[in-house]
Parts: sequence; C-alpha cells; structure tokens
Amino acid sequence: MEIYLAPMEGITGYVYRNALHTLCNNTITKYYTPFIAPRPKKGMHDRERRDLLPENHQGMYLVPQILTNLFDDFTNLATEIHERYGYSEINLNLGCPSRTVVSRGKGSGFLGAPKELDHFLEQIFEKRDARGQQYDISVKTRLGMSDPEEIWNLLEIYQKYPISELSVHVRVQSDYYKKPARMEYMPLIREKYDGKLAYNGDIFSVEDYAKCMGIQEMPLMLGRGVIRNPFLSRMLQGEEVNKDAAKEQLQAFHRAVFEGYQADMDIIPAMFHMKELWAYMGDLFVDADKAKKRLKKSKNRSEYEEAVREIFRAEIDLEKKQSVFVS
Ligand SMILES: Cc1cc2nc3c(=O)[nH]c(=O)nc-3n(C[C@H](O)[C@H](O)[C@H](O)COP(=O)(O)O)c2cc1C
Repeated sequence: MEIYLAPMEGITGYVYRNALHTLCNNTITKYYTPFIAPRPKKGMHDRERRDLLPENHQGMYLVPQILTNLFDDFTNLATEIHERYGYSEINLNLGCPSRTVVSRGKGSGFLGAPKELDHFLEQIFEKRDARGQQYDISVKTRLGMSDPEEIWNLLEIYQKYPISELSVHVRVQSDYYKKPARMEYMPLIREKYDGKLAYNGDIFSVEDYAKCMGIQEMPLMLGRGVIRNPFLSRMLQGEEVNKDAAKEQLQAFHRAVFEGYQADMDIIPAMFHMKELWAYMGDLFVDADKAKKRLKKSKNRSEYEEAVREIFRAEIDLEKKQSVFVS
C-alpha cells in the first residue's frame, strides 16, 4: 500500500515533514506542501520558498500544491517551481472549503463552476505542453460543493485531461471537515474513472482502513489521522508498534519539530505551531487533560516545556478511539 501525507496548512511544513519522515521508517512515499497561492507581482513568500528548497527534502518525494482559479497564474508558478526547484509533479487544490477561498471561486469553490474549471484545466495542460514543460499535474478534489452527486459531472471533466493522479477527499465543501467522510463514494468513483486515484478522508486507525471497502488497492492520503498518531502509517503497513519505544520516538519527534520551528521563527510563533500539533497529538495520551490544558495556556518556553513533560508522563495509547476534530 502506498501512503501519502496530505497537505495541511500551518502543520505539514518542511520541519514537520522531515521529522515525520524520520519517524515513519519510509512508510510514507509522497509528501504534499500546504497550498501556495500565486502572487503574480510579488512572488512567493520567503516561508514558501524555504518550504520548497530541495536541501530541506533529502530522500523525499515532494509535491508542491497550488491554489488558484487563474490558468496563467497556475502555469507561471508551476513553471517557476519546476524549473527553479526541480519538482516533477504539481498539485492543484480543488478542496479547500474555507469561506474566503470559496467566495473567490478557488479551492472547492471552483467545483461550483464546472465550465470554468474545464476551461482552466484545458489551458493549464495546453500551456504546459506549449512551453515544452515536463511536469505532471495532479489534482486534489472534493466530491462537490453541496451535493456529492456533483462528482459524476466533475469526473467527466477530469477524464478529458492527462491528470497524473486524482486524490479524492470524499466530502463536499459544505461538509467542511466535520461531517463524516462519504467513503461509500470511492468504489463508485473507481468504476467510473479510468485514471490513477488516491483516497483521502477520515482514516484514523487500522480499523477505519479495514472498514473502508474498495480502496485497498489505491494510494491512501492521510491527514489528521497521521497528525494525531504519527505511527499510523507504520501501523497500517502492519507493524506492531511497541508502546514504550513509541513514547521515546514521539519525544524525539516532538523535539525535532520544536527545534526546527525555533530555527525558523521566534519562540511565541513556534509555540503556537506546536499547540496546533498538540490539538491532534494530545489525543493519544490517556488521562492527560490537565496537562493538555496547561499546555494550551502556556505563555513562555518554560511553561510550555513543563506541560510537555507532564503530558509525556501520561500513558500513550495508539489504539485509542479518536476524538472529533473540528478545524
Ligand atoms: C488544518 C488543516 C489544513 C489543511 N490544509 C490543506 C491544504 O493546504 N491543502 C489541501 O489540499 N488540503 C488541506 N487540508 C485538507 C487535508 O489535506 C485533508 O484533505 C483533510 O484533512 C481530510 O483528510 P483526513 O480526514 O485524513 O484529515 C487541510 C486540513 C486541515 C484540517
């Protein structure tokens, strides 16, 4: 089974990706960057450039992701990323459900304008070929804006183009991240769509994966499940992870991420990013609510580190049922 790390803005930057790559024993074969929105006149932010540097991705297959509904902006940014940083696959974000993105017709908002989307796809492939560029274009989509049945029309559009891989987050825009993933759609999609597919949505455990019928032969893209439990890809590949060893490895993983952030930013934003991570990862610890509250309230490094030590004194349970995460 192939496992991918989903793009998650604010979480899966290069610092996180590298720490996970060390922890996961090569069980993750593809890493996506969080979306980059083109800024034609200003260019990429320094942070986005750092996130693409090949020296920050030794031995990893990285796929930069672009969020836009303007074909020239896509083509120009994809060309720059391909030529300057050498990436051979660029992903288009058709999934972001946030109101500001959707109201501008981008992300999953673009799914509500199928004709324009069709034209956009035609243009980005044509322009890539006209410029003699060799990068693959993959797409990450939701099922639609409000009705999952929108996917059938969307698949007809996707089918017209040489999309290298279509990863499907089996929710509609109005589901955000909260409503249960509509897993039952994936086998039907597989029947209808000839291209390469990847599954995404609500896999938090080995049981979730076993329950999800008809996705077993396709690559699996993991988001919150692996953020919550960084051992998930190893467990899905059949490894019995030892609890005590896992705690030590998780401590080393935490240290790597925290130190990586501090090398890039001040302590307060570094702590902010860590707290975002703990909102998921904290769920693995049993009876650690007090320590997690302290962590959330921590205002400086020593308070934060003390709360982390307290959390790590609690028992870790990799089989625990997950809480509901609202993003
Ligand atoms: C905090 C957060 C940030 C996200 N950022 C992105 C993003 O930049 N690009 C994208 O395509 N999807 C993004 N997603 C969606 C995830 O990639 C994934 O599709 C979603 O979480 C469902 O998968 P999961 O149930 O395995 O988490 C984000 C999700 C969350 C919760």
